[in-house]
Order: sequence, then structure tokens, then C-alpha cells
Amino acid sequence: MHRTGISAILLSLAIWGCATIPRVTDMEIQEAMKITGDPAVGRVVYEKNCIYCHREKGEGGGIASGTLEKSMSKRDEDLYRSIKQGMETWMPAFPKLSAKETVDVIAYVRELLRR
Ligand code: HEC
Repeated sequence: MHRTGISAILLSLAIWGCATIPRVTDMEIQEAMKITGDPAVGRVVYEKNCIYCHREKGEGGGIASGTLEKSMSKRDEDLYRSIKQGMETWMPAFPKLSAKETVDVIAYVRELLRR
């Protein structure tokens, strides 16, 4: 009984969580791609939100090992969607980042992995 209650709460949280992640529209991406990313600002965003999984040099550790490096062949548009909407894996969604912050953090990640 107690267990069922907890499962119900977890389930509703999961559903609620998904429902609050807005889909990234093509229009939003088109607009975002007009922004020039600033890696210096992106670094602050990265250190606050991403370093926990992707580590200092983007090498990742455990669940996120090497994932950034593998994804550098993808287009900015695709990375933008992955960051804002999350992926169906451990990569969480960051709907609260602004378009500018997202473009900035992409610029930083690209710079990070070029080194
Ligand atoms: C809870 C751990 C975690 C956090 C926090 C996290 N990521 Fe990820 N990220 C992952 C994992 C795991 C993957 C690999 C997913 C896969 O390839 O299936 C990933 C993949 C990615 C990718 C590749 C996307 C693609 O389309 O291939 C990018 C870019 C990325 N993360 C950027 C970020 C940025 C920027 C932040 C901070 C705003 C962030 N991540 C925060 C775990 C995390």
C-alpha cells in the first residue's frame, strides 16, 4: 500500500516533468542560429550546469564518458535541441537556459574539445 503510493507519486512527477519540457521548434532554432556564441559566457553556464557530468575538459566520467567528443560532428542545430530538450538517456533537458546561453555553451564546448 505504502509502496503503491510512492510509485504513484514518482509516476506523476515523471509525467509532470516531461510535460513541462517545451518542444524546441524549428523556428526557435532558426532564430537561435543567428546568435554568435560567446565561449566566455558559455563557460560560466557550463561550470554551473554541465561540469558535474561532462567534467572540466568535456571528457565526461561514468555515464557521460566521451559523449561530447563523439557529438562534435553534429550540427549546432542538433546540439541545441539536445541541450534544451534533453535526450532519452541521462542527458537532462535545460529548458530554462535562454537561446543565447545555449548557443554560448555550445561555443564553449566546441572550444573545449578543440584543445
Ligand atoms: C546528469 C548528467 C549530465 C548533465 C548534468 C549534462 N549532460 Fe550532457 N550528456 C550527458 C550524457 C549521458 C550524454 C550522452 C547521451 C547519449 O549520447 O545518449 C550527454 C550528451 C550531451 C551532448 C551531445 C548531444 C548530441 O546530440 O549528441 C551535448 C552537446 C551535451 N550533453 C551538452 C551538455 C551541456 C551543455 C550541459 C549543461 C547545460 C549538459 N550536457 C549537462 C549527461 C549530462
